Amino acid sequence: MNILPGWAAALCSLVWLASCGPGDVGEASALVEGDPVSGRRIIARLECGACHAIPGVRPARGRVGPTLHGFARRGYIAGQFPNRPAVLVQWIADAPRLDPRTAMPAFRLSARETRDIASYLYTLR
Ligand code: HEC
Repeated sequence: MNILPGWAAALCSLVWLASCGPGDVGEASALVEGDPVSGRRIIARLECGACHAIPGVRPARGRVGPTLHGFARRGYIAGQFPNRPAVLVQWIADAPRLDPRTAMPAFRLSARETRDIASYLYTLR
């Protein structure tokens, strides 16, 4: 998953350095303009951990979805969508809109809450 084809790697480095490979997470979360501390609280409240193992969030040991350990370094979201902040916020708010077949549900969230969650996920290296 972390090995991108050459053209994709080139595109990534042109478009969004931080989103591909081990970029600068501080920069990524700044670009999301969210508050990771608040994001972690919202993740706990929404019980994302029922389906995901999420470092720093207890209890978050779910196995329905992939572990979010190292998420910031992943090249793709759900193996299909480039792991960029703008895509991640869409995924968090309404994953089935991006992929109608995903088991991940949509959430009723404000734009602010969605950005906070995304910024927390980008602290996970
Ligand atoms: C009902 C189970 C379920 C819940 C609840 C859930 N997810 Fe997911 N999530 C999944 C599944 C399943 C996938 C894999 C998606 C796919 O491949 O279609 C996924 C994928 C993801 C991904 C992409 C991970 C990757 O490495 O590709 C992220 C990020 C994510 N979820 C974040 C969240 C967040 C944040 C919450 C809470 C707001 C949440 N999920 C709640 C089931 C869930």
